[in-house]
Amino acid sequence: MTDRVAARVLELRLILTEANYRYYLEQDPELSDREYDRLFAELKALETAHPELQTSDSPTQTVGAPPQSTFESRRHLEPMLSLDNAFTRDELEAFEARIRRTLAYEGAIAYLAELKIDGLSVSLRYEQGTLVWAATRGNGVVGEDVTLNLMALGDFPRRLEGVPDRLEVRGEVYLSKAEFARINAERARGGEPPFRNPRNAASGTLRQVDPKVSSERGLRAFFYGLARPDQLGLKTQGEILAWLERRGFCVNEKRRTLDSLAGVEALIGEWLSERGHLSYEVDGVVIKVDRLDLQEDLGATSRAPRWAIAYKFPAEEVSTELRAITLQVGRTGKITPVAELEPRFVDGSVVSRATLHNPGFIAEKDLRLGDRVVIHKSGGIIPEIKRVLYDQRPSGSVPYAFSERCPECGAALVFEGANLFWVNPNCRAQLLERLRHYASRQAMDIEGLAKKTLEQLMERGLVGRIADLYRLSFEDLEALEGFAELSARKLLNEIERSKTRSLARFLTALGLPHVGRGTASVLARSFGSVAALRAASPEELSAVPDIGPVTAKAIYAVMQRGEVGELLEELAELGVSPSQDAPASRQQHLSGMRFVLTGTLTRPRSEVKAELEALGAKVGSSVSRQTDYLVAGASPGSKLARAEALGVKVVGEEELTGILRHEI
Ligand code: IVH
Repeated sequence: MTDRVAARVLELRLILTEANYRYYLEQDPELSDREYDRLFAELKALETAHPELQTSDSPTQTVGAPPQSTFESRRHLEPMLSLDNAFTRDELEAFEARIRRTLAYEGAIAYLAELKIDGLSVSLRYEQGTLVWAATRGNGVVGEDVTLNLMALGDFPRRLEGVPDRLEVRGEVYLSKAEFARINAERARGGEPPFRNPRNAASGTLRQVDPKVSSERGLRAFFYGLARPDQLGLKTQGEILAWLERRGFCVNEKRRTLDSLAGVEALIGEWLSERGHLSYEVDGVVIKVDRLDLQEDLGATSRAPRWAIAYKFPAEEVSTELRAITLQVGRTGKITPVAELEPRFVDGSVVSRATLHNPGFIAEKDLRLGDRVVIHKSGGIIPEIKRVLYDQRPSGSVPYAFSERCPECGAALVFEGANLFWVNPNCRAQLLERLRHYASRQAMDIEGLAKKTLEQLMERGLVGRIADLYRLSFEDLEALEGFAELSARKLLNEIERSKTRSLARFLTALGLPHVGRGTASVLARSFGSVAALRAASPEELSAVPDIGPVTAKAIYAVMQRGEVGELLEELAELGVSPSQDAPASRQQHLSGMRFVLTGTLTRPRSEVKAELEALGAKVGSSVSRQTDYLVAGASPGSKLARAEALGVKVVGEEELTGILRHEI
């Protein structure tokens, strides 16, 4: 039990550390804030329940990422801490309960509530009243000197009269939504990738090596703290804010002192409804114990103060207009309708498109062009239309009708279950997707054959079908936009190399119906060659483990198609000869062993399964007494309990690697 918890704790730490690194140094978060918060909370709960797993380098104990070496390092007077989060009323109440417990205090507690600005924190150091540097948070103890990049801001004074020798002021640097949009438009014109959200843009700007660039972007800052407020004789957070404002620091006007938690809760509701009207992004409300003496008594953990908490706003819902519905074609011809929306800010980034899944989704909601719709980010990440505001429907609107023909090629559209398909396999939109899939890493792995390159090749009439890839010349590639001698040679090499990829990869690349990497491996092993697969009957196909009658029929049907046969022959003539996968006789040291997989593995399950099967093992889906090994990844399900009850040996991924290599 504890082993599994320990593994999950390690996994969470790695994910969070990586996310921190990307977030702080690369300004390109992969995890949404919400997802990050969720994983962080999970890790914290596990560490609390299992104190023996605590370590001082856990992301729950540290703040941010190490400073970047290109900027001077600056040591903060006091550590710059982070904040604990609360998402519910209960969590706010637990926050207060902890305060009362720690202080053994029954009296009233006044709080100061501020907006949580979605930017990055900075610390300004004044010595003898003069600003000497400004630094980012960095790892909390040491940050990066970004003084030059902040010099264009008028939001703080350069000199302070009558202050202690050393003083540090803390605040948040941010970009307004409008400025963010302007910067991204400019980047788009220059062919640069857009920033994902204002915070990333602000972070990128603050780390500009050339201060001229940052001075042209309208960075702003709000200030909310002092490293050592006692130096100035201040008694409350409210007094800190008033002092800062008096001295010429820009302080957010939305702040309120409340004499109880009940007041805080009412205020949260109020600010939540105003959130969308602000010109900058906020992601919650920061609640601070107002009295500084109480703050002092409460102290801080190595990560966050005990006297403050960030209440995070729930997923934002925003109304916008459905302007158009476009149809996206996948490589199998499947059509996904996509809503083109009037762009709006939702939870930190601009949303202008949302998937509509399939025609049924549109029909069920009776979605019409011109409708006002409420959008949100599902799971904090994927934009979705939540509902239609029927009462605001423009008069004269009509139900949405799908076109019956492909606008690209004029071919008819057909329904297959809930999904709509274009049946013309030569449609350009589909072809592009098929080529992308063919070249993708999991298939033929042709590095450098990106979407843009394929588009150019198609536009120039150089590639009209997969086989044409193998007819490209050095001159063809060198003439492409963005290509030079070296890149053309490299790509040509890559294409050449793809000719001898494994049969499993080749079958994956063909994009047969219902055939992913795992099934392709099974097929490759069972039939050994393209020719044998083509000759197989539906019965022979469904005799293969893992392949049901539906898949068998679908594969058979595709293999019988004239154009598929032609393509395969053409490819063979061009020298594409997928190498035989490891012959069944070699290294079958797991012959007859039964495995079951559960939980999240670090590799696709299908891949692990294919590898086990290649070594002769059987991989089943339920644990029985006959099972030799249960391979458990992260968050294993009920199979683990069953294995334990039956006394089946449970192994982790590391042990599995040993088993595969015949080391165990
Ligand atoms: S107080 C020791 N007040 O939120 C307390 N932080 O998630 C430090 N933030 O690192 C922070 N608005 O970058 C405070 N009104 C506010 C804030 C605020 C935004 C940021 C700050 C902090 C982060 C924690």
